[in-house]
Amino acid sequence: MLKIPGKGRSKDEVFERLEAFRKDDVDWRSGRTWAYVYDPGPQAEEVIKRAYMMYLSENGLDPTAFPSTLRLETELVAMAASHLKGDDEVVGNFTSGGTESIILAVKTARDYARARKPHIKEPEIVLPVTAHAAFQKAAHYLCIKPVLVPVDPQTFKADPNEIRKAITPNAIQLVGSAISYAHGVIDPIREIGQIALEHDLLLHVDACVGGFLLPYFRRLGAPVPDFEFNVPGVTSMSMDFHKYAFAAKGASVVLHRNKDLRQYQLFTCATWTGYTMINATIQSSKSAGPMAAAWAVLNFIGDDGYLEIARQVLDATQRIADGIEHIDGLRLLGRPAMNLVAFTSDTINVFHIIDEMKTRSWYVQPQLSFGGSKENIHLSINPASVKWVDAMLADLRQCVELAKGLSTAGGDDAMQQMLQQLDPTTLTEETLGQMLAMAGIQGTGLPQRMAAISGLLNTLPPAVAEKLLTVYFNDLFRYSKPS
Ligand SMILES: Cc1ncc(COP(=O)(O)O)c(C=O)c1O
Repeated sequence: MLKIPGKGRSKDEVFERLEAFRKDDVDWRSGRTWAYVYDPGPQAEEVIKRAYMMYLSENGLDPTAFPSTLRLETELVAMAASHLKGDDEVVGNFTSGGTESIILAVKTARDYARARKPHIKEPEIVLPVTAHAAFQKAAHYLCIKPVLVPVDPQTFKADPNEIRKAITPNAIQLVGSAISYAHGVIDPIREIGQIALEHDLLLHVDACVGGFLLPYFRRLGAPVPDFEFNVPGVTSMSMDFHKYAFAAKGASVVLHRNKDLRQYQLFTCATWTGYTMINATIQSSKSAGPMAAAWAVLNFIGDDGYLEIARQVLDATQRIADGIEHIDGLRLLGRPAMNLVAFTSDTINVFHIIDEMKTRSWYVQPQLSFGGSKENIHLSINPASVKWVDAMLADLRQCVELAKGLSTAGGDDAMQQMLQQLDPTTLTEETLGQMLAMAGIQGTGLPQRMAAISGLLNTLPPAVAEKLLTVYFNDLFRYSKPS
């Protein structure tokens, strides 16, 4: 077992080691990584880091002891609310990320229903299959049933008719995305808002990725429908600063139409022996660093700076979408409303394309097939990637040609049928380990080429894939001596 070093190490050694740990990480600074990091460039980065360090040790747990944190939070929430067309009634809180914002919005709906509709004993939330997995995580944590509904198979936008059909007397909340992560499209929030009003349901709009830049895209002339608080029926929204506002992680906001709703988000506890406990968020003690960094970056880049960033990424996205449509064998999934793009192929194994791109130091993200969305490749277009558009498209064209010579996904029909019949409840860890080994995974190491494992996950029934991933992660997060 690893032990705390007997004697403290020198500062130099500590930092050398930390630096060395990063050697295999994706090289996000290069702009060749099309997911995970939202890079505002070196000038803003300096401001973010300084603000973060300045507030590193202030504790957001108690705004009476640290009024600075209250000031930061209320200013951030007010800026977010006005950005999303909220009025003075809109309230909210700063959270650690989209997932926390979403869990809090679902908790609010659950506790609101407990108070206002106590006859509902088994609450349900209605989720288009394109809603972020964080809603299913929230449902899992909060003992709520997620009701998944199909989306339009061409546009990948939520289908109001399907939502309407899925509403039972147990429904408490509807969900729409602006934009959805997988396909980068905006759900018809106006129609969903109407359904929410007709059925007296809450409606959360997940604007974690889209909330910040969409209003700028609209100002630049892009066709962005209303998705904000000006839409009747919308009761809460989430928007991440740590995505397209380019703040440091974790920085997001959850907003409610009014205080009456927000009260159900709060947690208080007066039945213990310690300090007075009132938490607006899931985290209790928390560094004020992310909040200060978010405040700093909004103030540093400013409205005109964000408009300029939006202009650049909008142009780059259009060039990429057009470029992909001109590559033989590829097609877009949906029409991106912002700067997230998904594309697939009906003849080529897209997982090989991803591996080929990796050999040329591009990181592009695989997305598995589900609910009528074929397995595909996802790109998030960042300011740092704008300079790479032509080079990336040229490499993509070549990688598609190379992938044409490689196997198509999934194995033969007999194998497919066998995998489909697997029963997750009877699968042993040993069998799952053998499946991982067949896909080239030994222990917790990952192969250079991921097409086999992605292909396997793509073919397995979701419940089996989930079990396989659990087995893998359960081993991954254990210390093993570096070789
Ligand atoms: C639409 C959407 N909602 C929620 C989330 C969850 O955000 P986070 O990863 O910050 O928890 C994401 C993350 O990509 C997202 O794209």
